[in-house]
Amino acid sequence: MMKKLFSLSCLPLVLVLLSGFMGLQLAEARLHYNYHPKMLFVFGDSYVDTGNTRIDQPGSWKQPYGITFPGKPAGRFSNGRVLTDYIAKYLGLKSPLPYKFRKLIPQQLKYGMNFAYGGTGVFDTSSKNPNMTIQIDFLNQLIKENVYTTSDLYNSVAHVSVAGNDYNFYLSRNGSIEGFPSFIGSVVNQTAINLVRIQKLGVRKIVVGGLQPLGCLPGNTASSSFQKCNSTFNDLVLLHNNLLNQAVTKLNRQSKDNSTFVVVDLYDSFMSVLNHPSTNNIKEPFKPCCVGVGREYNCGSVENNVNKYTVCESPTSAFFWDLLHPSQAGWHAVYNKLQTTNAFQQIRY
Ligand SMILES: *[C@@H]1O[C@H](CO)[C@@H](O)[C@H](O)[C@H]1NC(C)=O
Ligand SMILES: *[C@@H]1O[C@H](CO)[C@@H](O)[C@H](O)[C@H]1NC(C)=O
Ligand SMILES: *[C@@H]1O[C@H](CO)[C@@H](O)[C@H](O)[C@H]1NC(C)=O
Ligand SMILES: *[C@@H]1O[C@H](CO)[C@@H](O)[C@H](O)[C@H]1NC(C)=O
Ligand SMILES: *[C@@H]1O[C@H](CO)[C@@H](O)[C@H](O)[C@H]1NC(C)=O
Repeated sequence: MMKKLFSLSCLPLVLVLLSGFMGLQLAEARLHYNYHPKMLFVFGDSYVDTGNTRIDQPGSWKQPYGITFPGKPAGRFSNGRVLTDYIAKYLGLKSPLPYKFRKLIPQQLKYGMNFAYGGTGVFDTSSKNPNMTIQIDFLNQLIKENVYTTSDLYNSVAHVSVAGNDYNFYLSRNGSIEGFPSFIGSVVNQTAINLVRIQKLGVRKIVVGGLQPLGCLPGNTASSSFQKCNSTFNDLVLLHNNLLNQAVTKLNRQSKDNSTFVVVDLYDSFMSVLNHPSTNNIKEPFKPCCVGVGREYNCGSVENNVNKYTVCESPTSAFFWDLLHPSQAGWHAVYNKLQTTNAFQQIRY
């Protein structure tokens, strides 16, 4: 009886102690939560598009895109997840809703929004899709309509992908190699203008992808039977990345918070995985998994109801899905590598 009384009388003390301890834990959790972004906004091209590109355009909504995840074509230029999905995962968020679906699935507006369209650049490209300026206009319009508030934006991260469509378009228009360095300067300057616009809309943290090694994309290694990266292209990529890093350093110096802008190094992370494929369970580093049967066909081509492409035996062990885009396994390996870099860790702080 005494024992029971004693223990009962101790209960309030225990509760006080316990709640004090829990209060501390909660305070800490809340502090952490405040630094944890609530939303992700995405701008750019097919490296981050998760559904905006129209169903009647090539890739993304056609078989065999999406065969690994979600199991059918779902608007991603891959057999499965793309960089957007891994960045969202890193932030503890659901992958943001493609802009196209904003009216269809309004309950998902709260995770942010993906404005990226395959084929686009900072300038107009041959793609009919909206360039990055227009994509940022879309967010601006949603802010005016009160779909997103100042507080939403302040508690958000933006990711910007400039994966090279401006350069493909430049080359397709017979742009000269001599003119290339100056054009790279224009692309980087326009990217910087876009980054500042996003900052002025109130986004606290803005991440931009450094350009991946274009010379290693299967479209540019086919002539060496997918053995060797084209150094001419990779040198131009290094120039782009140098200028981008300089521009971002300058923007950070001009900002209240000197880690507002973050460059994630897709060049090094791609190279690291391509040079050490087996540590990432990749069996085919350079050869794309899905290819058209002839020069005139791409992955996903169909003619007279006949598939004009082939898919490799094991899409989950290829780095590249098609001539331009990493597979889900490729993006996952790149993500694993990025997570070890200081720059990437800046995203959450
Ligand atoms: C973006 O697209 C719009 C509409 O086509 C065009 O007026 C504008 O000049 C483009 N912006 C850039 C930077 O090329
Ligand atoms: C580019 O040059 C080639 C060969 O000189 C020519 O056939 C083609 O029409 C040119 N393309 C453009 C867009 O000017
Ligand atoms: C890009 O901006 C830098 C710094 O403002 C300037 O020096 C350079 O001339 C610009 N390059 C191009 C090609 O416009
Ligand atoms: C890279 O590709 C371009 C265009 O196809 C070609 O002119 C150049 O010789 C290639 N460079 C190397 C180092 O293979
Ligand atoms: C950014 O600011 C922090 C503190 O305000 C400082 O410790 C850090 O050295 C700065 N970083 C750069 C790159 O200037």
